[in-house]
Amino acid sequence: MKRTHYCGEVTERLLGQKVTVVGWAHRRRDHGGVIFVDLRDREGLLQIVINPDQEATFAIAEKIRNEFVLQVYGQVRPRLEGTVNDKLKTGKVEVVAESLEILNTAEPVPFRIDEQQTISEEVRLKYRYLDLRRSEMSQRLRTRANITKIMREYLNEQGFIDVETPFLTKSTPEGARDYLVPSRVHPGEFFALPQSPQLFKQLLMMSGMDKYYQIVKCFRDEDLRADRQPEFTQLDIEASFIDESDIQLLVETMMRRIFKTVIGVDLSSSFPRMTYKEAMWRYGSDKPDMRIPLEFIEVADLMRDVDFKVFSGPANDATSRVAALKVSGGADISRKEIDDYTQLVAIYGAKGLAYIKVNHLDQGIEGLQSPIIKFIPEVTVKALLQRVNAQSGDIIFFAADKIKIVNESLGALRSKIGHDRKLFTCDWAALWIVDFPMFEFADGRWNSLHHPFTAPVLKSLEDLTESPGELISRGYDMVINGYEVGGGSIRIHQTEMQQKVFELLGIGAQEAHEKFGFLLDALKFGCPPHGGIAFGLDRITMLLTNTTSIRDVIAFPKTQTASCLMTNAPSPVDTKQLQELSIRTAINK
Ligand code: AMO
Ligand code: AMP
Repeated sequence: MKRTHYCGEVTERLLGQKVTVVGWAHRRRDHGGVIFVDLRDREGLLQIVINPDQEATFAIAEKIRNEFVLQVYGQVRPRLEGTVNDKLKTGKVEVVAESLEILNTAEPVPFRIDEQQTISEEVRLKYRYLDLRRSEMSQRLRTRANITKIMREYLNEQGFIDVETPFLTKSTPEGARDYLVPSRVHPGEFFALPQSPQLFKQLLMMSGMDKYYQIVKCFRDEDLRADRQPEFTQLDIEASFIDESDIQLLVETMMRRIFKTVIGVDLSSSFPRMTYKEAMWRYGSDKPDMRIPLEFIEVADLMRDVDFKVFSGPANDATSRVAALKVSGGADISRKEIDDYTQLVAIYGAKGLAYIKVNHLDQGIEGLQSPIIKFIPEVTVKALLQRVNAQSGDIIFFAADKIKIVNESLGALRSKIGHDRKLFTCDWAALWIVDFPMFEFADGRWNSLHHPFTAPVLKSLEDLTESPGELISRGYDMVINGYEVGGGSIRIHQTEMQQKVFELLGIGAQEAHEKFGFLLDALKFGCPPHGGIAFGLDRITMLLTNTTSIRDVIAFPKTQTASCLMTNAPSPVDTKQLQELSIRTAINK
């Protein structure tokens, strides 16, 4: 007999009907001669009752252990009063088994499928197929599937065409290391797995596709964090004859539809735009969490002449800054918490974390508590308090250092305090970060802030070489609740400009030809103006499933050290296989 219903679908509306259900024995309970089995499938749990007067069925039921695979045929009846479970969709009914078949047995499982809190992530990843039986995990994957369904529907409606691009390809620079694949037929040569389909989607514009999208794996060998995986999924989009506002409007509308459909949330009708410069200055981050109402206040001008070198040094240095972060009502933050915060900022290179607690504003200096006011003249302290508009009960933190260190450390502190003290002013805050610098100077050379194919805002081609540090790019990032969920740009569509950008980045003509000759060629044959964006599907799913680990939204993720605990990949290979690939490793395992 075939399954008639999923377990989780058997509700009061089926009372009196005969059903056939299949699934896993979630739990067996013996109650004075009657056996109850909670049968589980992807839709939920269903209570099965096996009475002893059904002798053959009962004998089978006695053999059931957790996670046995069962098929049950029986009648749906109301549960006895007092045994109704309101937490379950099926909690008002049960099925009285008339026949029962064990389709498969199971050895004792390494963890109970519903006791999530006691399972280490290592065990969950080793037995991922069992972990995915838990409803929390399967719900997350289904939310992910729902998100991609909405993305596809929306982009199809808008006339976008889904095109696949190769995985075995050449390096696509997005700032990470490449995963390489050796070629057997070309000894000593390698494919690179794409860090993104960037170049191919641009070539599709050159081929007249006009509107492209793809939900696609990308591969990046980089340091992993809670929101990064070595292989992750992008929703990749590109369109021709458009500008920034077309792309932004297109994907804002998509994002609003996703949030509304998946979690019933109305995102703002138009996402605010903030320049990179403003974001860094006010929040120390290019992905500020705008739910947190704290912001930096610059105080360098007040500190220039103080004797306290920790502050006056950076205050007089153009590559440094001195910033304050006021937490209203934060004077109750304990010594221990301040020590923890000092450790947090130290991760980003801060040499300390100065603070002033404003216990009683009306008592002047006496009313303050601080390790630094003894080093600062009273007038300056007063000016500081005025600058940040301090009130009794506030605490003010200070960071003085190189701009990058101040931004990163105080930015991390802002986020930490926002979370610790639940300062959120709203549940969802989406915005665009725009006007990124085109290049940044690091390690003695210019690097692209986005990627080398992003177009600059330019009046003339000369501007490019004259003052590269001041150039603004036509890039944009979408940020939601402090996560960079997507980033894109209008692209360079002229050969000359692309060549100039390569030159600036230290990619000589020869190297540019070897690495990107096909792109430079294609630009010559009538390339339309174009641009696009890519979203991190995993990050969007994290936000919509309320988890902070990217591994929770990927069926078979890698660990922080880029390995798979279930398959044990990566792993050594046979010498024969290496020989075929003309590879000799320097490590003998
Ligand atoms: P970018 O490198 O900004 O742009 O990537 C786009 C989005 O992909 C997500 N993302 C990641 N998610 C998980 N793990 C990772 N390791 C990871 N790296 C990136 C982020 C990010 O916003 N080709 C360009 C896009 C374009 O210009 O159209 C690109 O790849 O959410
Ligand atoms: P010190 O004189 O180094 O003991 O520092 C006095 C106070 O200033 C301590 O509270 C330190 O945590 C703090 N401090 C030291 N360096 C910095 C810095 N670069 N930025 C902000 N506060 C600092």
